[in-house]
Amino acid sequence: MSEEKVDKTIKTIGVLTSGGDAPGMNAAVRAVVRVAISKGLKVVGVHKGYSGLITGDIQELTARDVSEKIQRGGTFLQTARCMEFMEDAGVKRGAEMCRVFGIDGLVVIGGDGSFKGAAKLASLGVNTIGIPGTIDLDIACTDYTIGFDTAVNTAMEAIDKIRDTSTSHERCSIVEVMGRDAGYIALWCGIVNGAEEIIIPEVKPDFDDIVKSVIQNKQRGKQHNLIIVAEGVGGSQELAKRIMDITGIETRVSILGYLQRGGSPTALDRMRASIMGAMAVELLVEGKSNRIVVYKDGAYGDVDIDEGLAMTKTLSSKEYDYSRLLETR
Ligand code: ADP
Ligand code: F6P
Repeated sequence: MSEEKVDKTIKTIGVLTSGGDAPGMNAAVRAVVRVAISKGLKVVGVHKGYSGLITGDIQELTARDVSEKIQRGGTFLQTARCMEFMEDAGVKRGAEMCRVFGIDGLVVIGGDGSFKGAAKLASLGVNTIGIPGTIDLDIACTDYTIGFDTAVNTAMEAIDKIRDTSTSHERCSIVEVMGRDAGYIALWCGIVNGAEEIIIPEVKPDFDDIVKSVIQNKQRGKQHNLIIVAEGVGGSQELAKRIMDITGIETRVSILGYLQRGGSPTALDRMRASIMGAMAVELLVEGKSNRIVVYKDGAYGDVDIDEGLAMTKTLSSKEYDYSRLLETR
């Protein structure tokens, strides 16, 4: 779909967060509110993602309402995975509610799923702008997604701690990190935590080879083995059993889970979220719709939602190849 021009002046902007929460979403909402108000616009916050749009859980946000939010994790607007919005009737209802609340433009902060919903709203005449917000970094049209940096830093600190005790006991530690079907958190943690093995969905693992490496590392005098597994591959308990059965080396599994999604956002997440929030408002004021704000090849920009959704994300082969060299030996 090509860029759609709107023919009316934007007076009221709505903002919602959707899908899994991510640190920095609050900073993005704050930026939307502050920049919109500075341009003389009214802003309304939609609570609980598309669920709140359908039920009309919508309230005005003033500049003060977003005070003390930039440093907070989670999303104060709350979020949801709204099954009703997957149906045409749900989207139609959402578009009607935009009209009822006078929302001329809607900023949707979320991942690919949330953008699919935003594109459908745009096709029903609601001006929408997406901001990439997910810890998974799995959005093809952008190199950056709000929350990834914080999640990786949180996971890195946790894994450093696991490494300490792993070394003390000369154990093998398997740490499973989030990322849905993508291996970015695992790849980053594998490199920044100096793991011996990284297992990600993008590369078929050779488990026999991994067990061999555990044995060789022990023979080389390594006091621990750290294996990072992406949740999209999973099977950490089975792998631990296999390693213990074959090598006799004590092996423990830690699944980091939801702690990766919480916490105060890093400077990078606050920075990018603030700029992207500001850009989303400007795009709406310029009459743009059905766009995603992106950070690509070192620059901010925006792309058509449908074109963005059609792109395929590829993991950096350079980073993965170097991670293999860094693992050795
Ligand atoms: P993310 O936005 O992080 O990818 P989800 O895939 O869970 O997370 O999507 C978030 C929400 O976006 C869903 O719960 C649903 O309300 C909406 N959504 C997802 N896919 C679609 C779709 N194909 N059509 C309409 N809405 C969708
Ligand atoms: O998309 C973010 C994410 O945390 C993924 O890494 C994970 O697979 C998923 O959300 C978990 O979703 P839920 O909160 O619905 O359990």
